[in-house]
Formats: sequence, structure tokens, C-alpha cells
Amino acid sequence: MSLPILPLIDTFGRRHNNLRLSVTDRCNIRCFYCMPAEQVKFLPRHEILTFEEIERLVQAFAHVGVDKLRLTGGEPLVRSDIDQLVHRLKSIPQIREVAMTTNAVNLAKQAERLKHAGLDRLNISLDALDRDTLVAITRRDVLDQVLAGIAAAQDVGFKRIRLNAVAIKGLTEAEVLPLARFALERDLELRFIEYMPLDSDQTWSNEKVLSGETIRELIEQEFGPLVPAQRTDPSQPAFDYRYAEGRGRLGLIHPVTAPFCDTCNRLRLTAEGKLRNCLFSLEEWDLRALLRQGASEQEILALVRACVLAKQPGHLIGQKHFERPVRTMHQIGG
Ligand code: 5AD
Ligand code: SF4
Repeated sequence: MSLPILPLIDTFGRRHNNLRLSVTDRCNIRCFYCMPAEQVKFLPRHEILTFEEIERLVQAFAHVGVDKLRLTGGEPLVRSDIDQLVHRLKSIPQIREVAMTTNAVNLAKQAERLKHAGLDRLNISLDALDRDTLVAITRRDVLDQVLAGIAAAQDVGFKRIRLNAVAIKGLTEAEVLPLARFALERDLELRFIEYMPLDSDQTWSNEKVLSGETIRELIEQEFGPLVPAQRTDPSQPAFDYRYAEGRGRLGLIHPVTAPFCDTCNRLRLTAEGKLRNCLFSLEEWDLRALLRQGASEQEILALVRACVLAKQPGHLIGQKHFERPVRTMHQIGG
């Protein structure tokens, strides 16, 4: 029996068509804003959803209007045979786009397979081009691998690759212009993301957020006025700009200083199958338990709807009642 398509609309009228799938909580580097330096506790393998389980869940989501997927981690490229998952998900008829966010450390080896499997887009995390600064952030020396990964992805034909750079006061100001030049020269889109309180060391503070506004000033001093770009997708979190001469695209994501929660269309599934309605949500809905009890698609979707209906209007970072989620970024999936 086919289900009627009732989209996932929350109590604030937001329609959820975008699912972010964390495929592992493991990572081959240790960005301080995401993971502890040592003694990281990873999930045992049996707790992680299998490809079959992920596929089954995505089929259910696809029946209620989800058409965009993003694979995240931890680091998605440390999960074996991830290209096979991409291929399976691309084969679901309603799914229009499968994208991935990766640190690119393992990308050079896998770019061709991923392209072949049908991966549509890549977001690559690169916070600094200066080796020492990057080591200070990632606690590993991976600059050469990341640069090789970017080059390989371009060689095999990925288009509109986006670089994500987390902006941290006192650490990455000097990276803003080099990253902008690098992206312009190589025809990459660049996005700066304000540092958010999802680090496991709990050293985040408001003072460490390099704001989107400051980045804009730094860029404009060098490249002249930025021109707001047309928004093709109003649910995108970034404010997009073009450089004055019409070259290149630059995005500023201000989750801290100017939240974009009112247009959020995203749900998040953790590697062990818990559904979250927000990066900062304090509650989770256990889809794996249902799956492993042999639940029907209707039962699974009932839990998905409960999660969507419980979605709050927005996060409270910087306000008195803000409470950090227990999970840190590598356990949620960005
Ligand atoms: N604040 C802002 N961005 C973060 N990311 C990971 N942790 C944080 C944080 N605390 C970014 C990564 C990656 C994406 C998944 O989220 O750099 O690009
Ligand atoms: Fe790994 Fe991404 Fe977390 Fe960095 S931010 S430690 S690359 S999962």
C-alpha cells in the first residue's frame, strides 16, 4: 500500500525536506571545536545503523517529502564502502540530491568512486591554509592531504565544491583573505561559519566567535563591496554574496549572531539512528529501536512526525536559558 504524501510540517509551518545523515561518529582528525584531543569514546559497531537500515529509513522519509540528503560524520569517508551507500540512496526515486560534508583527508583516494556512485555535491571543511594554524585546530598535520583531496575532486568533475571554514576569534582572522583568494583562484565557493558551542572541551565562549560581520569587513577592505547574491534556496543558512566584479561566491553563516532558525528545513539522524530536530535539541527520537523491533513504515513515520512536531522555534545560544546538548559535533553530524 502506498502512503499518502503528508509533508513533515512543524507547528511553525516549516516543511522538512532535508535530512542530514551521520554515518559514523569516528574521525581521522580531532578538530578542537568538535572532538576531545584524546580518549574519544566511539560507538561500538553494532550500535551503528547498517546501510540496509539507513536505506529503509530514507525510503520512509522519501515518502513524506524528504528529497535532499547530506552524509556527515564524524568523517563520512572513514566508513568503509561509503560509495555503496551513496549509490543505494541515489537509487531512491524521490531523492533529488545526495551531498557530503567531509574533511577531505581521505578524499583523493575516493573521489572517483564517489563521483561514479552519483554523489552530487561536496562540502569540504578547511579552516586555515597556514599549516601551523590548521594543526592548532585539527591537532593533525593534514594540509597536504586536504589540498590533494580538493584537487582530485575537481579532476573527477565535481562542480560547485564548497569550502567550509569555521571562524574563531584570535585564531583564524589571518586566514580569511588567503582562503578567499584560494577559493577565487580555484573556482570554489567559500563559506565562513561562526564557531558554535558544540566543542567537547567546553571552551566555547561568545568572545571566541569571529562574527560574520567582522569577516565581511575584512573581505570588503581587500576586495571592495560585496553584493548580496540571489537566493536560490531560501532555507539555506548562508547569506550569500558576490564580489563586486561579479566573480566568485562567498557565504557567511551566522548561527550565533543572526540565527536562521525560522527557515530551517533540516532533520538530523545520528549514526546510531536517533532522530534530532535541531543541532541543539536536547531530545532525540529512537528510530533504530523501532527498526530493530520490526516496526512498519507507518510506525516509523509516526515517530518522525512526533519529532518534527516537537521542534522549537529556534536555538537560544547566548541567551540565559541556553542549555548545551550533551552530544558534541562529531556525535551529531554538523
Ligand atoms: N562550530 C561551527 N562549526 C562547526 N563544525 C564542526 N563543529 C563546529 C562548531 N563547534 C563544522 C565543521 C564542518 C561542519 C560539519 O560543521 O567544520 O564543516
Ligand atoms: Fe572530524 Fe569534522 Fe569533527 Fe573535524 S569537525 S573532528 S573533521 S568530524
